[in-house]
Amino acid sequence: MSAPIETSRVIIVGAGLAAQYAALKLAPRPVLVISPEPLGTGASSAWAQGGVAAAMDPADSAEAHARDTVSAGAGTVDAGVAEAVTKEARDHILDLTGLGTPFDRTEDGSYVMSREAAHSFARVVRVRGDQAGAEIMRALTAQLREAAHVQVLEGVMATALEVSEGRVTGVAVARCNAGLSASVVLRGAAVLLAGGGSGGLYALTTNPPRIRGQVIGMAARAGAQIADAEFVQFHPTAIACGIDPAPLATEALRGDGAVLINRHGTRFMLDAHPDAELAPRDIVARAVYAQTQAGLAPALDTRAAIGAAILTDFPAVAAACQKAGLDPVTQPIPVAAAAHYHMGGVATDGSGQSSLPGLWACGEVASTGLHGANRLASNGLLEALVYGRRCAQAIDAALPAPAPAQEVRLPQLAPTEPPDATLVAELRQAMTDGAGVIRTAEGLTRTLASIARIEAAQPGCEALANMTATATLIAAAALARRESRGAHFRSDYPEAVGETGQRSRMTLAEGLVIRAAATTREEPA
Ligand code: SIN
Repeated sequence: MSAPIETSRVIIVGAGLAAQYAALKLAPRPVLVISPEPLGTGASSAWAQGGVAAAMDPADSAEAHARDTVSAGAGTVDAGVAEAVTKEARDHILDLTGLGTPFDRTEDGSYVMSREAAHSFARVVRVRGDQAGAEIMRALTAQLREAAHVQVLEGVMATALEVSEGRVTGVAVARCNAGLSASVVLRGAAVLLAGGGSGGLYALTTNPPRIRGQVIGMAARAGAQIADAEFVQFHPTAIACGIDPAPLATEALRGDGAVLINRHGTRFMLDAHPDAELAPRDIVARAVYAQTQAGLAPALDTRAAIGAAILTDFPAVAAACQKAGLDPVTQPIPVAAAAHYHMGGVATDGSGQSSLPGLWACGEVASTGLHGANRLASNGLLEALVYGRRCAQAIDAALPAPAPAQEVRLPQLAPTEPPDATLVAELRQAMTDGAGVIRTAEGLTRTLASIARIEAAQPGCEALANMTATATLIAAAALARRESRGAHFRSDYPEAVGETGQRSRMTLAEGLVIRAAATTREEPA
């Protein structure tokens, strides 16, 4: 391995909303952003269609937003976190506007708001219907490219954390723009993880192809506590067209009146929940999943409520339909429940500090207590903003006064074996089969045994080990939680135990003990 590279820059792993916002807020402190793709592409944030939840309407309030967040989270949201985050929301929307995000406005200049499931008010600020994520990222990326304190390494991914005497001291990185190279360690002033969630660990997902739990996994492998790993949110209306990842049909369509029907034309949500299509996301996802399993071909019918306006008002959905050979103006859009957002992640405190000194985390990779067992729609981008800024402030406060820093240059790095594509496909299928929308002890045990076998089949591959670490934590925490709560549904324990539940915390070492026991049970006698 090449010799470690020392830098006084703060190293940020990831380049989505939380990463870019934190990088801007760290100014003038020198920052190094590690971005596997060209800046502004490839992160989940750029694919977010709905927008940012914020009580911007004078008739709405941060208190009502916090109440909805707590109620959707099924008894495990940290109410103090929800109150503080929703209170900050307005400030971040004004900030993003100032940074150039062209939010939809009415003639009198107010923000246009979308309604999404489980919100008691239309409070999602948006850009041209479904363009919020793409436009916010466009605005921030333009700012970051101009920022003198920021260096971006594109086509580079983190593979592991360096820990010395219990403190995170650096990040091993590899080139990934053409195959995968060997790694070199970068030692920086601090490390901030903001590299997204784990939806792509599932065979059916709405997440960009690279988002496969690698960053949670590298924190877990370094010894960080992981919180709420079992809580994976499935989006009910991924477009079921055989494309991987599955394109999203935003919940805002249902907010505008689109309905869910099956192949008999029956609106199945009417019997499932009093709020029908606008019920909490976990309930709609399970109903859609049940229809799929029963061969009833669930579909989102936008025809009566939205009609031809879908082509102009929801351009991303219209483009996805066109790519899939569907015409949403004349036909219902086939849908399926797909892994969408990980409520669990690196356990962090109110300033984004992880359980390991020197390591902070924000965005989907972190678990702050905001989302509980079921994230309220469009609270993900909000959390990324709030904790992106808090991490920047906390890191700045923890370090000596900033001084100018040299550019970091990576040496030549020899090519190495990327994760075996067949093993990755097997891992994703094992997660969908046993740790998906409906879980049982038997299915989770089988999945844990599969993860162990897949990990052992390519020893020494850090990128695969990061994925299997996160997969292990999801399945082990799901096996340990013998109840159903929010997005975590066990058909062998279908009730919640008590009105409120405990958040879970697990280290990888603890997850591996559960996996070893499961693997032993799965071995033939
Ligand atoms: C959507 O637009 O349906 C997704 C919004 C979110 O996941 O927050």
